[in-house]
Amino acid sequence: MSSVVLIGSQWGDEGKGKITDYLAEYADVVARYQGGNNAGHTVIVGDVEYKLHLIPSGIIYPGTKCLIGNGVVVDPQVLISEMDYLRSKGIEVSPDNLTISSHAHLIMPYHKILDGLEEEARGAAKIGTTKRGIGPCYVDKIARVGIRFSDLVDLSTFKEKLAENIRLKNLTLGKLYDQKELLDYDSIYEEFLGYREIVAPFVADVSLELNEALRNKQSVLFEGAQGTLLDIDHGTYPFVTSSNPTAGYASVGTGVGPTKIDRVLGVTKAYLTRVGEGPFPTELFDEVGNILGTVGNEFGTTTGRKRRCGWFDAVLMKFTADINGLTHMAVTKLDVLDSLAVIKVCVGYELDGVMTGHFPDTLAALSRVKPVFKDFPGWECSTVGVKSYEELPANAKAYLKGLEELVGVPIAIVAVGPKRDETISLVDLF
Ligand code: GDP
Ligand code: IMO
Ligand code: MG
Repeated sequence: MSSVVLIGSQWGDEGKGKITDYLAEYADVVARYQGGNNAGHTVIVGDVEYKLHLIPSGIIYPGTKCLIGNGVVVDPQVLISEMDYLRSKGIEVSPDNLTISSHAHLIMPYHKILDGLEEEARGAAKIGTTKRGIGPCYVDKIARVGIRFSDLVDLSTFKEKLAENIRLKNLTLGKLYDQKELLDYDSIYEEFLGYREIVAPFVADVSLELNEALRNKQSVLFEGAQGTLLDIDHGTYPFVTSSNPTAGYASVGTGVGPTKIDRVLGVTKAYLTRVGEGPFPTELFDEVGNILGTVGNEFGTTTGRKRRCGWFDAVLMKFTADINGLTHMAVTKLDVLDSLAVIKVCVGYELDGVMTGHFPDTLAALSRVKPVFKDFPGWECSTVGVKSYEELPANAKAYLKGLEELVGVPIAIVAVGPKRDETISLVDLF
């Protein structure tokens, strides 16, 4: 038994859902620790595709216990529709296999309204958020006015907190954003009474459950959302999300001590993508970028937006390895590179005429860097469905070896297709 934190090591959409599902076979418990339904995690088993935003990707495995930790922000409307969606696909969802932390914060209707209005007000400086209310919900959490699941269960607290929040938000909406239509307490209260009925049986102490599982020698997988460069502290601020997707937060966002974590797996795309605004040194604007986007089907799982594509960036990845303390990488979407004659990897940045191997710590500097590339010969044949590392083409193995050396972290898993069985395991993580 052991515990593994799985994180996105780039700008999100690295294939965390697929790798979580693959590893869920070996995990007794899978826990989400941050973010909310800004995430879109895809799992494909056989011919069935599952797109998950909130419920851990471990839910597909019968017998796996899924937890939504205190660090997650939860839109109850989305949670309930995701439960229905899973049931319609034959997946059981009940308090037997899903617990929601009583300390997790609720995304309220006004958070979604504010997310949209704030983006509009930023104009050209927009972040490109998913408009799911994530940022405004975390703002309320930090401002200590947020509403938690324990409040929803205890109706008298809910009524009090809802009334106060509606008073404050109506001031903001009317005075700051000049909105004519303001929030109505009664209709929001009624709406949430309905949600309460359904979700209350799932609410419990996730920290206690997780610590008990660890005491009972169960294996735990922490499923990160978003990616390291979207981290509110370590990412490309302000073009980031409002939580900490990095590995350290697995501990804070679920309530287990850092001494309980054995390994940190960075899910890493064999090239690079980003959705939304912000700097991206290796971004491609040419035909190769189009090939990556088309072959890789790079469209957002949550918003459907086209993802920006670029070459693998080893400078960024060394930074990621440090910030998360990566012990292993899971390299995904290797097959997307199958047709390319030459594959480039960024091995250094030129910043104001000086070479550096370090990821700059200011946005201004990052916006000025010019990537320096090393060329790897392509393999120009299909890797889809290859079952073992040995069977991979020699140039694909050389590419993977190159990534390991440049990043300084061993590869534990290689994905060569979106399906569960299109996965090669090199190291047992559990
Ligand atoms: P996540 O947010 O990190 O879980 O990633 P997404 O699900 O948003 O995006 C990853 C996309 O790539 C999904 O459509 C997956 O089905 C797909 N995918 C994952 N691994 C592979 C792979 O190795 N090869 C290919 N071709 N597609 C993959
Ligand atoms: P998964 O878990 C990729 C991006 C948004 C935007 C920024 C802030 O599927 O990898 P937010 O709505 O969080 O305030 O938006 O973060 N973003 C993601 N990009 N994958 C995600 O999740 C993302 N979640 C948020 O596009 O640039
Ligand atoms: Mg995604």
